[in-house]
Amino acid sequence: MRTLWRLGYSARLLKTNNFRTAAANTSFPAVWTLLAQYSGIIPGLFVVVRKYRFFTMPDTVEDKADLKLYSPHPGVRGMTQLNREAFKRTIVVPVLKVKTEIVYTLLKSLKHVILQRPGLKRVVEDPGDENSRFLILDPHKIPEFSLGESEQEVLNQLNVHPEVSKYNLELTYENFKSEEILRAVLPEGQEVTSGFSRVGHIAHLNLRDHQLPYRHLIGQVIIDKNPGITCVVNKTNIIDSTYRNFQMEVLAGESNLVTKVKENNIAYELDFSKVYWNPRLSTEHSRIVELLKPGDVLFDVFAGIGPFAIPAAKKKCHVFANDLNPESYNWLLHNCKLNKVDDKIKAFNMDGRDFLLGPVREELSKKLPLQKEEEKTSFHIVMNLPALAIEFLDAFRHLLVREPCGTAGLPMVHCYGFSKHENPAKDIQERAEASLGTSLDGCCSTYLVRNVAPNKEMLCISFQIPADVLYKRPCPDEAKQASKRLCTRSEFSEEKFLS
Ligand SMILES: C[S@@+](CC[C@H](N)C(=O)[O-])C[C@H]1O[C@@H](n2cnc3c(N)ncnc32)[C@H](O)[C@@H]1O
Repeated sequence: MRTLWRLGYSARLLKTNNFRTAAANTSFPAVWTLLAQYSGIIPGLFVVVRKYRFFTMPDTVEDKADLKLYSPHPGVRGMTQLNREAFKRTIVVPVLKVKTEIVYTLLKSLKHVILQRPGLKRVVEDPGDENSRFLILDPHKIPEFSLGESEQEVLNQLNVHPEVSKYNLELTYENFKSEEILRAVLPEGQEVTSGFSRVGHIAHLNLRDHQLPYRHLIGQVIIDKNPGITCVVNKTNIIDSTYRNFQMEVLAGESNLVTKVKENNIAYELDFSKVYWNPRLSTEHSRIVELLKPGDVLFDVFAGIGPFAIPAAKKKCHVFANDLNPESYNWLLHNCKLNKVDDKIKAFNMDGRDFLLGPVREELSKKLPLQKEEEKTSFHIVMNLPALAIEFLDAFRHLLVREPCGTAGLPMVHCYGFSKHENPAKDIQERAEASLGTSLDGCCSTYLVRNVAPNKEMLCISFQIPADVLYKRPCPDEAKQASKRLCTRSEFSEEKFLS
């Protein structure tokens, strides 16, 4: 598994144990099952591989010959303030002299050997002949400045006499790719590629120490080479604040961190410096929302700005969304309005534990006793605070007092956690069991969400809360007294009502 990730892929692992009743409603997409069965790796361990959705500099794959030929002027090494003029360099390339009237036909039929570079003209004037043009050819595709057989044949068919000559081509900053620029500037032999994730108009970097002296230049190059990005920020601390946002430095561009993003066709607005937003969770958000049916109830304990809550509300679920960060709460309210679901979501700004012991308990106490076996409503509780959420699971212990009529409607929990363990699924399950005070063997599934860092995985454990955890079962004596109290109370209220 870890090897797959090292190869640049993220993997999804689905360990299936038998779910209890609500799991029947939990329709994991059939395609996973098929893929897993097809791959047949380990029975019960389903692995799905998909390309990691992560923006890197789009032009990081270069072969060595390209890097040598297309390197900017060596004088830019060590530059910390971007001087675009200093990148100019002249290289010798093959050109094909052709009559003006067949230029476009040849551009099409010789497309595979024409030099393609950002912002570079493929056709230039012939200073010695106004009726001719030069087509610029790719030196790697035309070795020794002579055309291959297939190109010769194309030209023969068009009755063109091939005339390949050498041409001094001036490459400017615009013609270099960001990787080539940074490789020329940063110290030789040091890693230059720096992945960034994009959040609206913001590119977000996590630079290494050796890159820091060049950070403003790196930021500017990213803006120049990536249309739509107008602000580049660098993380300045690890993400360990309570609210999961991080301090950042604006490296280049506008200092506006209020941005718009679209995830799974839903628009969100947010202040990237004040709230948590991770574009790499979009698949996970839609995976959970796909489990919900219209009419279901979703409790989102650590809701952020609403990437589970809002799509669930759009799906006509009843949503209770909470976040402790007042900024997240305000942006959640804003996004509910933006997406016209403010009547479907009840938002709270409190600690997750208080939310579970307060609004969640209240709603479940009201709705669960009315739930019938054949009833279709499911209750889902999402807990996406991977560093801590498992520690909140003990709040489910004896959360409700009334005896269940059956297991129908027992809430499904989807709780996230990080693991650095050799067997992350086992680790998460054991920690969840310790927090709940019960075994989940045979009644939970763990899902590998993404690889966060080398040897650190983010997982989601899903399970239906066992009835003996959720309900306080009074001992027979207590039960008698409780029922007496209940009778007295109802008589009392009846009296009050009658009087
Ligand atoms: C990892 S983010 C997840 C946000 C959102 N659910 C998502 O998927 O993008 C965790 C969120 O939990 C909030 N948070 C942190 N501690 C909390 C607590 N004790 N109670 C409630 N929310 C908390 C943070 O403000 C943050 O928005």
